Amino acid sequence: MIFFGSALLPVDILLQTLLNQYFASSDCIAFISDDSIQFNYNKTFVYIKPEEENFTLLLLQVSEMGCMDYIVKVNEPQKFMIAFEKIAHFTNTRKSDRKIIFLQDYHQKDVKNNLLEVFKLKESSFFANILIIAPSRNETSSCEYYDLITHKFVGLSNHDQPLYLDQWNSCTKKFYHNENLFPHSMTNMYGKVVKVSCFTYKPYVLLDLNPLLVPSGRDGIEIRIVDEFCRWINCTVEIVRDDKHLWGEIYSYENLTGVGVIGSLVKDRADLGITALYSWYEEYLALDLSAPFVRTAVTCIAPAPRLLASWETPFLPFSFYMWIAIIFTFIYASVALIIAQGCCAKNVFLTTFGMMISQSQNDAGKSWRIRSITGWMLIGGLVLDNAYGGGLASTFTVPKYEKSIDTVQDIVDRKIEWGATHDAWIFSLTLSQEPLMKQLVSQFKTYSFDELERKSFDRSMAYSIEKLPAGYYAIGDYITEKAVLDFMIMLEDFYFEQCVIMLRKSSAYTNKINQLIGRLHESGLLLAWERQVALQHLNYKIQLEVKLSRSKKDVDKIEPLAVRHFLGVFILFGTGVLISFMVLISEIITHKKPNQNINPL
Ligand SMILES: *[C@@H]1O[C@H](CO)[C@@H](O)[C@H](O)[C@H]1NC(C)=O
Ligand SMILES: *[C@@H]1O[C@H](CO)[C@@H](O)[C@H](O)[C@H]1NC(C)=O
Ligand SMILES: *[C@@H]1O[C@H](CO)[C@@H](O)[C@H](O)[C@H]1NC(C)=O
Ligand SMILES: *[C@@H]1O[C@H](CO)[C@@H](O)[C@H](O)[C@H]1NC(C)=O
Ligand SMILES: *[C@@H]1O[C@H](CO)[C@@H](O)[C@H](O)[C@H]1NC(C)=O
Repeated sequence: MIFFGSALLPVDILLQTLLNQYFASSDCIAFISDDSIQFNYNKTFVYIKPEEENFTLLLLQVSEMGCMDYIVKVNEPQKFMIAFEKIAHFTNTRKSDRKIIFLQDYHQKDVKNNLLEVFKLKESSFFANILIIAPSRNETSSCEYYDLITHKFVGLSNHDQPLYLDQWNSCTKKFYHNENLFPHSMTNMYGKVVKVSCFTYKPYVLLDLNPLLVPSGRDGIEIRIVDEFCRWINCTVEIVRDDKHLWGEIYSYENLTGVGVIGSLVKDRADLGITALYSWYEEYLALDLSAPFVRTAVTCIAPAPRLLASWETPFLPFSFYMWIAIIFTFIYASVALIIAQGCCAKNVFLTTFGMMISQSQNDAGKSWRIRSITGWMLIGGLVLDNAYGGGLASTFTVPKYEKSIDTVQDIVDRKIEWGATHDAWIFSLTLSQEPLMKQLVSQFKTYSFDELERKSFDRSMAYSIEKLPAGYYAIGDYITEKAVLDFMIMLEDFYFEQCVIMLRKSSAYTNKINQLIGRLHESGLLLAWERQVALQHLNYKIQLEVKLSRSKKDVDKIEPLAVRHFLGVFILFGTGVLISFMVLISEIITHKKPNQNINPL
C-alpha cells in the first residue's frame, strides 16, 4: 500500500476505482507524473518523473522490466506519446492489449485540449486502449466532474476523433452510464481497414487471379487466414504490395526503414505481414510474431542422377573392397603355388589367373601338394566367377545411375549451388555456427526469375522448395513442367520452420490473430485449405513429378539387353586388344634377333 502526498483528491479516488476495476490482470504499471498521485495498488509498479533528462531511456528500462500499462499525468502528453511509441519499437517486451490512462487534475490548466490532441497523433492510432480522464468544467456545481474519453479506434474513418464514454462525479463517486471504459476488445472492428502486406507466392498467397474464377481476385492459405480473420472481427482487408522486393529486409532498426513485406511492417505501411514469413530472429527483434500456423520443411530438388557411363559396367558387380580382396587372393594364391612348386615361379601367375577365371589346366601337377592347391583354387575361381557373372547380369538388366544427391552433406561435398529468387531462404541458417550449415549458406545464390528458369535446364544447381504439412510443395514458378522431369527431391530436409504472421510490436491485433490461429489448428482447417488451394491453383503435374521423383528411380524397371549394355565390355576388350597389339609390335622390334631367319622359305 503506497501513498504519495497527503489529502486524497477526487481524481485519485477515480483512479483508484479504475485500478481496481481494470488493472487486476496487469503485471506491472508505470506511473508517469509530474506531481504526486495517491493510490493503493498491491502489485508491482514504477514511478517516473517526466522532467528527467533521459526520460526516454527510463521509459525503455521500465518497459524492459515488464511494466506495460501506463498511467500518465503530465503537462505535455503528446511528448510522452511520441517517446512512448518510439520505445515500443525498441523494447523487447510486447503486450497486445496495453492500457494507457491520461489523467488531468481539476486544477491543472489548459491541459484538456492538449490531452485531446493526443488522439490526433499517428502514434495513438496503433493503440486500442487509451483512456483520457479530463475534468469537465461545471461552474454551477461544487462537485468535480470528469469526462472519460477514448478514441474512435474502430469503424471506417475518423479514428482520431474522441469518443465520450462516461462521466464521473466526485460527489456521488459514481459513473453515469457504467460503460466499459476500454471498449475496444477487438471483437468487432466495424469495418476498420486492416492493411496486409504480401506478394504472390504459391500456395501461401495468390494475387491478381481471374475475378471470374475467384471473386476477390486473391487466394492462398494465408490469404484465407486474413480473410477469415476479418470475417471474424468485422474488418476490411486491404492489400499492400511491394512486389519487387518480395520478403524484403529491414535496413535500419533505428530509423525503421526497410523494403518488401518486412519493410512495410517496420514502416507501418501495413498492419499484418504474410507470405511464408518464418519465425526469424532478426525480424523478431523489430516485430511481433503470431503463433505458428504452418510447419514447413525446406529442402531442395537437385538434378536427378543420370545413367552411368557404360564402360563402368564391367566393374560394377563387385564393390571397391571386393576388387582389392580379389587382387590379394590372386597374390596369395600365386605365392602358395610358388611355394608348392618348390620356389619355382614358372607359369605361376598365368596359371593362377586362369584358374581364377575358371580356365582348365592342361597340366594336373606332379605332386599332391600342387594338386590340392590348384584344386582349391579352381573351386575358389568357380565361386568368384559365378558371383561376378550374377552381378554382371544384374548390372546389365537393371539400369544403374550415378550417385544421387540425398543429404546436405552431398550438396556440400559436391559444391552444388542452390538458390532461389531471394535470400529469405537462408535467414534461418545465417546465425548457425555449424560448419556444415555455414558451408551450405555460402553455396546459396540468388538469381532473377529468368536466370533461374534458364539454369533449370542445364543441371547446374539445386532449387529450394518447401514441403508443406498436407503433403504439397511450394515450388517457384521458374521450375517448369519440362524442367522438373530432370530433378529429384532430396531425402534430407535442410531445416524446418514455423510460418507466422508478423505485426508491428505490441500490435493490438496480435492476441486476436493468435486466438484465430488456435481455432484454425483446432478445426484442422489449415490442412484443408492447403489441399484446396493446391488442387485449385498449383500445377498438379509438377507437384506429382516432385512427389514421385524418388520412387520413379527406386523401383527400377528391368529392360532387355541392348547394345548399350555391352558397349562397356567391348570398350575394355578393344583397349586390351590395342594394348596387347602394341606390346607385340614393340616386342618384335626390340627382341628381333639379327641372325634368326624368320622367313621359313
Ligand atoms: C491485491 O488485492 C486484491 C484485492 O484488492 C486481492 O484480490 C489480491 O489477492 C491482492 N494481491 C496481492 C498480491 O496481495
Ligand atoms: C541519465 O543520463 C546521464 C548522462 O546523460 C547519466 O549520467 C545518468 O546515469 C542517466 N540516468 C539513467 C537513469 O540512466
Ligand atoms: C452541471 O451540474 C449540474 C448539476 O450539478 C448538472 O445538472 C449539469 O448537467 C452539469 N453540466 C454539465 C455540462 O455537466
Ligand atoms: C460490421 O461493420 C459494419 C460497418 O462497416 C457494420 O455495419 C456491421 O453492423 C458490422 N457487423 C456486425 C456483425 O457488427
Ligand atoms: C538514420 O537517419 C539519420 C538521419 O535521418 C541518418 O543520419 C542515419 O544515417 C540513418 N541511419 C541509418 C542506419 O540509416
